[in-house]
Amino acid sequence: MDADITLFVDGTEHRLTVDTRTTVLDALRERLGITSPKKGCDHGQCGACTVLLEGRRVNSCLMPAVAHDGAHLSTADGLGEDGRPHPVQSEFIRHDAFQCGYCTPGQVVSAVAAIEELKAGEPSAVTADDTDLDEEIRERMSGNICRCGAYANIVRALSEAVA
Ligand code: FES
Repeated sequence: MDADITLFVDGTEHRLTVDTRTTVLDALRERLGITSPKKGCDHGQCGACTVLLEGRRVNSCLMPAVAHDGAHLSTADGLGEDGRPHPVQSEFIRHDAFQCGYCTPGQVVSAVAAIEELKAGEPSAVTADDTDLDEEIRERMSGNICRCGAYANIVRALSEAVA
């Protein structure tokens, strides 16, 4: 069965007809040609498909598109302004926070939200008076897997971006 939906992606309105089994990830990649959200596990375990839904991190592979008619989504494609990278993207580049790059769009989107959470003082599962910043970052980024193991540089990039 098909349904007509509207998605606002990186500020652009898209009207499309989707099968009711279509995920937001597949709608973005296969219908709209927005390919920065990647399909890794397709089961909500790797974070490669991370996008922001109304500013919160979500795994788009787990989201039925029809359940998000009218949603406002942000992807790595929409980060930055005037052709310049977002400050978090700049820190990823400066700290070599990737190898193959497959997970990077999801990492960067997740990092942008994680930094907002940190700056807003939202507690994580490890937050305590003596929790250091690197531990906070590792916990907050734990939903994004990097098979190349660029974690140390990802943490470095985030700690610079938070400062
Ligand atoms: Fe969505 Fe892995 S592809 S979490």
